[in-house]
Formats: sequence, structure tokens, C-alpha cells
Amino acid sequence: MQKTIKLGALISGGGTNLQAIIDCCESGKINAQMAFVGSDTPNARGLERAKQHNIPHFVVDYTQFIKTHQEHPLPVDYDPEEIYQKQNIFSKSSEDRKKVKQLLSSRILAERSLLNNMANYDFDLLVLAGFMRNLTPYFIDRINTGHPLPRIMNIHPALLPSFPGTDGYGDTFNYGCKVGGCTVHFVDYGEDSGPIIGQKSFAVTPEDTEESIRKKGLALEWELYPECIQLFAENRLKLQVNTSKKNRPLKNRLTVVVLN
Ligand code: GAR
Repeated sequence: MQKTIKLGALISGGGTNLQAIIDCCESGKINAQMAFVGSDTPNARGLERAKQHNIPHFVVDYTQFIKTHQEHPLPVDYDPEEIYQKQNIFSKSSEDRKKVKQLLSSRILAERSLLNNMANYDFDLLVLAGFMRNLTPYFIDRINTGHPLPRIMNIHPALLPSFPGTDGYGDTFNYGCKVGGCTVHFVDYGEDSGPIIGQKSFAVTPEDTEESIRKKGLALEWELYPECIQLFAENRLKLQVNTSKKNRPLKNRLTVVVLN
């Protein structure tokens, strides 16, 4: 019999991806059940969805943590230099060093609080479902323990590696792309740079607007995310190191192989 995996989800807003995942869990379309929903925003609409489905939920108000971080002691297991060196999101130029370290410290307080809340639940996979915060190696390393695969997935509104960041569909439209899409990937230390699990694409027509592109993309996200979660549940994802000598920048890059 197929094992049912437990999912944690982090959200920031509307939570339509969360809803698609909840629906697939409840209908048995995927072998998964929701363990908790966490939000970085107190009034995220997605929290209502969790409530409606009796899923435990919590809020870690990032804005508050960022405002007041200097008043709080940093976690004792946080090594600022280690995290600064590992992370691949912010500049490592010497003139930005102090600013970036401060920024990381404020995020780590919020992440510690996320981890404390999440410690109340048992989960196999953490899905970022419209969670609009970058996670640092402090958080990622504390989730990716004791498993052969990474344990954090993200959905991104563009065909990565094009248009990482916060406005994938807007970027797709403004760039004049003729094809758009969405990507599910494992989270690594960079911004939207982790190994790609699945992608879906749509044609951009001359009639399309930024809004219609978003609509087309979201409809595909609701299919893609559950499909990728199901591959994880079925143990069909394997990480592979790219050893190609031809493409030097991509040598040693981790890729995902989907097993039949
Ligand atoms: C989705 O389009 C998702 O791909 C995107 O936010 C939207 C959330 O919608 N995520 C990101 O941009 C992450 N960087 P939802 O709250 O209705 O699921």
C-alpha cells in the first residue's frame, strides 16, 4: 500500500495553491495529508482556508520580527559567518557585508520562530505555496536532515531559470515572451535556483494581458504542484549530479530525475 506523507505548508497570501493541495489530499488524488499551515502574514486569506479544513495553523509575523530584531537575542545555534558564506541570495561584496549580515540576522529570528512552531508537528515535506520570503541556510539545513532528498519544495510563477524573484508572470509579460509557465523545484541556498522537479507551459498570445497570463499560469500551478508532491510521495524523485564536461557552469549542478 502507498504511504501517506504528511505535508506542512507555508503561505503569505491567497492560498489558491494551498487549496488545490488540500483538495487533492481530501479527494485521495495524492497520497498526502496536511499537518499544518504557517503564514508570515497575520491576515493571509490562506489561513481561512486552513481553518475551514480544520488544519492546524500559525502565524510568524515577519514584519514584526524585522522591525524589532535588535531587541531579541539571536539563537545560540546561529553562526552568522557560516550562514553568510553559505547563502546565495544576497551580495557577498565587502561593502555590503555588514548590511547583509544584519538582514540575515533579522530573518533568522523569524525562521527560529517558524521552526519552533513547526516542531509541534510531524511532517515529511514542507511546501512553499505562495510564501514570499527567502529562506536562509539556517532554516533549510534544519529541515533537510536525515533524508536522501531535500524536504522543501517551492512553486514559482515562471519557467525557471528565467525570471526568478517575486513577479514571474509580470516579468514573462513585460519581456514579451511567447511562452510562459510555472516551475516546482526543491529549495536550495539561492533564489529560486534549486533542482527543478516539474514544469508546465502555456502559449502567450497577442491578446494576452498580464492578468490573463497570471490566470493561465495559476490554473497550471494547481495541477503541477499536486503532481510533484505525488512524485515525492511515491518516492520517484532522485537527485543526480550533472557531470557533463561540455557545459562547465552547469557541471556539478544537482538535477532531479523522475523515476518510472
Ligand atoms: C503563485 O502564483 C505562486 O507561484 C507565487 O505566488 C502566487 C501565490 O498564489 N509564488 C511566488 O512568486 C514565490 N516566489 P496563491 O497564494 O494563490 O497560491
